[in-house]
Amino acid sequence: MLNLKIIVTSTRPGRKGIIFGNWLTEVAKQLPQFNVELLDLAEINLPMMNEANHPAMRKYEHQHTRNWSAKIEDADAFVFITPEYNFGFTAAFKNAVDYLHFEWKHKPAAIFSYGGISAGTRAQQAVRLVLSSLSVTVVNEAVTIPMFTQYFDEELNFQPTEQIERTTAQMLQALVKWGNVLKAGRSEE
Ligand SMILES: Cc1cc2nc3c(=O)[nH]c(=O)nc-3n(C[C@H](O)[C@H](O)[C@H](O)COP(=O)(O)O)c2cc1C
Repeated sequence: MLNLKIIVTSTRPGRKGIIFGNWLTEVAKQLPQFNVELLDLAEINLPMMNEANHPAMRKYEHQHTRNWSAKIEDADAFVFITPEYNFGFTAAFKNAVDYLHFEWKHKPAAIFSYGGISAGTRAQQAVRLVLSSLSVTVVNEAVTIPMFTQYFDEELNFQPTEQIERTTAQMLQALVKWGNVLKAGRSEE
């Protein structure tokens, strides 16, 4: 069993990311290979990075960091639900990543992005660059949703196409594969 953390990285009031996060959580829960937990950065509400020591030292002074560390330590795989903000990803996302170090290492991640015509692909590239510094394996299989509001009904329910459902399934299967490979690797560390 793999602990999959689905992380919603937009935090503003009225954000759409939580809609995708809730939808993906329900989809992922159908898979017997995963224990799924949704981590909402708005709820977790980390302050701007305020630890004195480099996170690789794991000398955390604040309870909010210890709580966040325990959540990510527990993970075997991640999906980041990310919008594109100014051709990049959100400040809350970078802040949450920067808080920790070894907790992220040698684990697979997939990116579920949404945006205008770019579908959040520029944000995806920026995420890959940052996560590579922490030895996170970002899988190629991703979900990219262009002009995303077209997939919401009037009640703001997400109405995915078959193609979106298919790419989502492929993305989750990639996390199963890499999740198992890297979990076995970590057990030898
Ligand atoms: C600060 C900010 C910057 C944005 N920059 C981009 C952008 O570079 N590319 C894009 O496709 N959409 C951009 N948008 C529009 C977002 O795709 C849209 O607002 C989306 O709902 C943001 O995700 P969220 O609702 O989860 O916060 C931006 C929105 C905000 C608030």
